[in-house]
Amino acid sequence: MDDVTRQFSGYQQAKAPAAGPDELLVRVGPGTPGGEYLRRFWHPVAITSQVGDLPLALRRFGEDLVLFRDGSGHYGLVHRHCPHRNASLEFAIVQPRGIRCCYHGWHFDVDGTLLEAPAEPDSVRLDQRVRLGAYPVREYKGLVFAYFGPPDAVPPFPTYDTCEIEGGELLPYEVPMDCNWLQVAENSMDPMHVVFLHTRVNRVQFTKKLGILPVIRWFETPIGFFYTKGRRMDDFLWISTNDIVLPNFTQAGAVHESTDGATTKYFGRNSFTRWIVPVDDTHSTVLAYRHFNPRAESPRDEWRTPEALEEIDITRLRNRPYRERQIDPGDYEAVSGQGPITPHGREHLASSDTGVVRYRRRLRAGIRALADEGRAPLQPGAHGAAPIPTYGSDTVLRFPPAPDAQEDEAAVGELLEAVGAIYRSADGLTGDPRYEDLATKLATLNR
Ligand code: FES
Ligand SMILES: [Fe+2]
Repeated sequence: MDDVTRQFSGYQQAKAPAAGPDELLVRVGPGTPGGEYLRRFWHPVAITSQVGDLPLALRRFGEDLVLFRDGSGHYGLVHRHCPHRNASLEFAIVQPRGIRCCYHGWHFDVDGTLLEAPAEPDSVRLDQRVRLGAYPVREYKGLVFAYFGPPDAVPPFPTYDTCEIEGGELLPYEVPMDCNWLQVAENSMDPMHVVFLHTRVNRVQFTKKLGILPVIRWFETPIGFFYTKGRRMDDFLWISTNDIVLPNFTQAGAVHESTDGATTKYFGRNSFTRWIVPVDDTHSTVLAYRHFNPRAESPRDEWRTPEALEEIDITRLRNRPYRERQIDPGDYEAVSGQGPITPHGREHLASSDTGVVRYRRRLRAGIRALADEGRAPLQPGAHGAAPIPTYGSDTVLRFPPAPDAQEDEAAVGELLEAVGAIYRSADGLTGDPRYEDLATKLATLNR
């Protein structure tokens, strides 16, 4: 056998012991450590407009559910199967108050209380024994949120600065994904894929400027992360920032229009706010807002249709012809192609995976603290200020390059550290005063 043939390793690798996923991180069902951790937070479960006059069948966190709005306008999110003999409540009749099972007419309130069992002479005794599983629900700006955790530990509902911008409009949308939620969430902690998947390897899917290799700096906060990417554009530096708030809230800066490369900009706000919500272990869904406000990238009217909202999302469409997906793969192809649950044991993490590693470490710590010590995770609102300050943004500074490339990279790194510190320095302020304070401080960094 010559040396060249020896290099082929398929045979050996195929025989290697199976390497599975990180069980702690990927399992979302009831009673699993990861599932219990995730259940301690509010999550969006649907778009308000998806809830019509009939019950909406949903699957979230491995549980089959129905969501409905009763005649009094109250939302109910309940286990899908009737506690009598398990008929599916997707066929139930929505009532002026609560919902009525189609099979024998048992009638439940939105909190799962049995109000009436018309075929039973002694329905009073029954209603003390029987409850339909139900979860607290809250509607906020076109999305329906729910809390799946223990009822004695309902956390305060978190509101974020970017969703409360004056004159802002939030367009909700959903992108279903056919893989474990963590793969989709990790995509947001992987800034290098933007350079390659979205720009250099296939075609320019957003803007050519995203193909410039960025200098990156990471910032950990008590509730998550933000990271800044500095891209050199001649004498200017475009600094875009992404947020992750634990466990699954993400925000990205502008993706279509960021800078003309010759104008300064101070803390323009992000275009998307997205939650990656587990459907079950092998499916997830992105529930999100596209922002239309004076501080985000200029909205285009053609972005307002549901199809366009899905398409411009950074996860991109899944319902494209196979050939088209092969020629022009996007986030959907990248993350679902890893498999329904990626086998972490087969990965070879490298320096560009810094964000992924940090994210997994924080999630693991949160899951273990709850599972091993009963310590509930810190809530997004624990930050103090309301609405919660986030940092997803675009800033452009005048910052001519140092003559030497290595020197320039170091200077850009230092600048990014300074920008990150400035972003956090205004956490105590909200609304216009915060934006004005940040703009004044950022302007001092121009050269
Ligand atoms: S199964 Fe629902 S009322 Fe009988
Ligand atoms: Fe992407």
